[in-house]
Amino acid sequence: MSKIGFAVIGTKGMGRGHIKAVLATEGFELRGVCDVMPAESEACAKEFNVQGYTDVKAMLKADPQIKAVSIATPHWYHPPIAVECAKHKVHVVTEKPMSVTVSGADQMIAAHKKSKTILAVVYQARFQAANAKMKELVASGVLGKIHRVMLLAPGYRTNAYYASGGWRATWKGEGGGVLLNQAPHDLDQLQWIAGEMPSQVVAVNESVLHPIEVEDRASALLTYKGGATGYLHVSTTEVPGRNVIEFAGDKGYLRLEDGKLHYAKIDPGIREWTENTKEAWSRPKVAWEEIALEPPAKKGHEAVFQDFYEAIVNKRAPKVTGEDGRNSVELANGMILSSFTKKPAKFPVSRKAYDALMKKLIAKSKKRI
Ligand SMILES: NC(=O)c1ccc[n+]([C@@H]2O[C@H](COP(=O)([O-])OP(=O)(O)OC[C@H]3O[C@@H](n4cnc5c(N)ncnc54)[C@H](O)[C@@H]3O)[C@@H](O)[C@H]2O)c1
Repeated sequence: MSKIGFAVIGTKGMGRGHIKAVLATEGFELRGVCDVMPAESEACAKEFNVQGYTDVKAMLKADPQIKAVSIATPHWYHPPIAVECAKHKVHVVTEKPMSVTVSGADQMIAAHKKSKTILAVVYQARFQAANAKMKELVASGVLGKIHRVMLLAPGYRTNAYYASGGWRATWKGEGGGVLLNQAPHDLDQLQWIAGEMPSQVVAVNESVLHPIEVEDRASALLTYKGGATGYLHVSTTEVPGRNVIEFAGDKGYLRLEDGKLHYAKIDPGIREWTENTKEAWSRPKVAWEEIALEPPAKKGHEAVFQDFYEAIVNKRAPKVTGEDGRNSVELANGMILSSFTKKPAKFPVSRKAYDALMKKLIAKSKKRI
């Protein structure tokens, strides 16, 4: 079978990782690279012996053999580029977050639906064994009715990191802080493993360590339709910063920490025990187990690009569709909306309200480039 012509858009940072992943995917042929910075595009094209471009539309016109692209530009450019590619019937795998706003994500999804092309989102953490197993166990119902979820994803960045790109950490350049750049993987995991979006969020976002206009710390209380409650905390302000995801149910408990998945079977369920036991100081039996994990064949971006390739040739949905990718954007948007309005934000987030808020924030933003 002939290979699928591929181009990588945005080549400086993550784009180099995309090139590696394209080269590791047998069915793809890297034909071009595109970066608005001519020197960057030229150097990258030379390094990989392919054609270099500085404009996406011109590239797609010049080389009709490019049937698939990946996007690794700053977030605001993901929607216009993905929509342009759909117009040329080109499949797209885009970096997280797929868009800064849910309305941008809606446009990307609609454009690719119309052109019947694949829109995939890079959430490589979904391919990690522990995350996939946690998703499988929650979906199996082994926890019974879930009453609490928790995500802790405290991370760390220096001021030098924020100064490393003019687009970083401004409303104009990035459209958010930790919620849009460092935490999307964590937000994605929470909603993916839960299998549903919350119905409402109350959030407090702040900038506490870095001299930036967007949030470097965000905390939220989530409410789910079925009665579960959830809380989450993400930041770029903490060291050592251990990530934890917990799901607590009536019949079981799961905790994922540092790639290790612990399961506690609760026998009988909490409600049954509470209603039936005659012993005042008692609790149901708890049996702990560390879940054995099998490492996947491919990891990171290579796994995402292999899945993207298989989705194209088998005409199936990718593991992370545009609709899936939109959920973490929606969570982040809901948290930003709630924090600014000091009110709960309902899901789905009001596109009108969020776009209006962004417009105001951008008008006051000091993009550094
Ligand atoms: N999946 C992950 O784990 C992961 C990790 C890092 C970054 N990312 C994502 O990758 C994206 C890029 O981040 P980065 O750190 O590589 O940024 P970067 O600044 O290092 O690189 C971005 C490149 O895009 C180019 N560019 C800007 N606008 C463009 C346009 N309209 N057309 C073509 N090229 C354009 C820039 O010139 C630059 O070379 C972000 O959305 C980020 O969230 C994802």
